[in-house]
Amino acid sequence: MRLRIEPGGRLAGAVRVPGDKSIAHRWLLLAATGSGRSTLLEVPGSLDVRSTGACLAAITAEARPALHAWALNDAGYREGHRSTWNVRVEGEDDRPLSTPLEVEGEGRRALTEPSGPLACGNSGTSMRLLMGLLATTGFRTVLTGDPSLSRRPMERVAEPLRAMGASIASTDGHAPITIEGRPLRGTDVTPSVPSAQIKSAVLLAGLDAEGITTVRESVRTRDHTERALEALGAPIERSDGSIAVRRFQHEGFSATVPGDPSSAAFLVAAAALTGSEITIVEVGLNPSRTHFLEVMARMGVETEIDIRHEEMGEPVGDILVRPASGVHAVRVEADELPLVIDEVPVLAALAAHAPADSWFLSAGELQVKESDRLHGIGEGIRAIGGHAAVEGKDLVLAGGGLEGGLVDARGDHRMAMAFAVSGLGARGAVEVEGMESADVSFPGFSRTLAALGASIRVAAGR
Ligand code: S3P
Repeated sequence: MRLRIEPGGRLAGAVRVPGDKSIAHRWLLLAATGSGRSTLLEVPGSLDVRSTGACLAAITAEARPALHAWALNDAGYREGHRSTWNVRVEGEDDRPLSTPLEVEGEGRRALTEPSGPLACGNSGTSMRLLMGLLATTGFRTVLTGDPSLSRRPMERVAEPLRAMGASIASTDGHAPITIEGRPLRGTDVTPSVPSAQIKSAVLLAGLDAEGITTVRESVRTRDHTERALEALGAPIERSDGSIAVRRFQHEGFSATVPGDPSSAAFLVAAAALTGSEITIVEVGLNPSRTHFLEVMARMGVETEIDIRHEEMGEPVGDILVRPASGVHAVRVEADELPLVIDEVPVLAALAAHAPADSWFLSAGELQVKESDRLHGIGEGIRAIGGHAAVEGKDLVLAGGGLEGGLVDARGDHRMAMAFAVSGLGARGAVEVEGMESADVSFPGFSRTLAALGASIRVAAGR
C-alpha cells in the first residue's frame, strides 16, 4: 500500500497507541507457562505479537484454543485493531477497549511437542525469547522466520544458552533453529552485544535451570522481563549491571498491556514537526524505553510525562507533547544507542529537518534489525530530497529539510512510519510505498495520524 502524506497541518487530541510489543511477547509467554489462569487486556494485534501467540498455541494444551483464536482469527485481529486507533475525548471513561484474553496456563512442565515448525514470522523477539523457553523442555522444536528474520543473527542467543548445556543448532548462524530441549544448569553469562532479547532468553532458560543463572550487561537494555518476574514473585536479584535468577514456577496473573512508547515516538515526532500539542495516554513509561524523549528534548521537543499507575512493575501514564518551533541537530552517543535502538528511524526522520548535522554514533547494530536500517535510513532520506550518509558505523543526517517524493519502506515497519512522519515537515508531499508493514508493530498507524488531523490518503501505486 502506498500512502501519501501532505506536509503541514495541525494535530490535536489525546490518543492511545497499541499495546507494547516487547511487554506483550513476554506476558503472553509467561501467561502460557504460568500455573493457572491469566487474564490479559490490551494485547496488541501487531503481527509480531500474534506470531508469539500462534507459536505458544502450538506448544500448549489448555491454553491453545484461546491463544489460537486470538492469534489467528479475524476476530482477534479486529479486536487488536479496535483498541489501537481510538482517539479519546475529554471526559470519556477509561475502561480498557479490548476484550480480555484468558490463558489457561498449566505450568512450564506441561508444554507439549509441536506437530511442526513454529513460524515466528518477522518477529526477532518471538524467536529469541522462545529459544530460551524451549531450551529446557523435553522435546524437539524447530523455529522458522520470514526472509527478513532468516537473515538476522541467532548465534548471539544460542551461544549463552549452549553454555548452560542447551542443544541448539542454527543454519549458518540463522533460522531455521533446531532446539532439543534438555535439562540446563545455571551459569554466568555476558552477552556478546547489549540486547534485551539475549538477556531475556537466558533469564527464561534460567527459570528452569539447576542453580543460579546470572546475566551481566555493560550497557543497560530494556528490563521488562526482570520487572515481570519480580512482580510474579520469582527469586530474581538485580544489582548494578547484573541479574540473577533461580528455578521458579510462577502462577497465573492479570494485567493490562500499556501502550507502546516506541509507537508513541512516531506521534511525538509528528506533533513536533507540525508544532502541535497532543497527548498519548496509557503508554508504558519504563525508563529503559523512554530515553528517546530525552534525545528529542535535546532537539527542542518539549514533553511532559505523567505516571498514573503501575502494571506488573511497569510505570504507565501519559505523554504530553508541547508545541515545538523547529528541531535542533543532535548527537546520540554510542552508549545511548541501545536505549533508543528502535527509535533511531524516527529520530533520524526528525533530524533530517534540523538546520545542522546530526550524528548517531556506533550504530552498526541497526544493520541487523528488520532491514539494514543503517544504510536504509540514509537511502530513504535521500530519496525524499534530504541529505544523509553512513561514515564507518556512524549515521549522519545533514539536516536542511526534505523536498518530498517517493520512498520505499523495504518491508520494515519502523522505516515506513518514520518516512511517513517525516513528510509532515517536508516542503512537498511524501509517498511511502509498503506502508502496510506498519501492522507489524502499530496496526492503525495511518488512521491514528489521520484522526489527529494529519492529511493522509492512500495513493495509487504498485
Ligand atoms: C526487543 C529488544 C531489542 C529491540 C526489539 C525488541 C525486546 O532488540 O530492538 O525491537 O523486546 O527485547 P535487541 O535485543 O536485539 O537489541
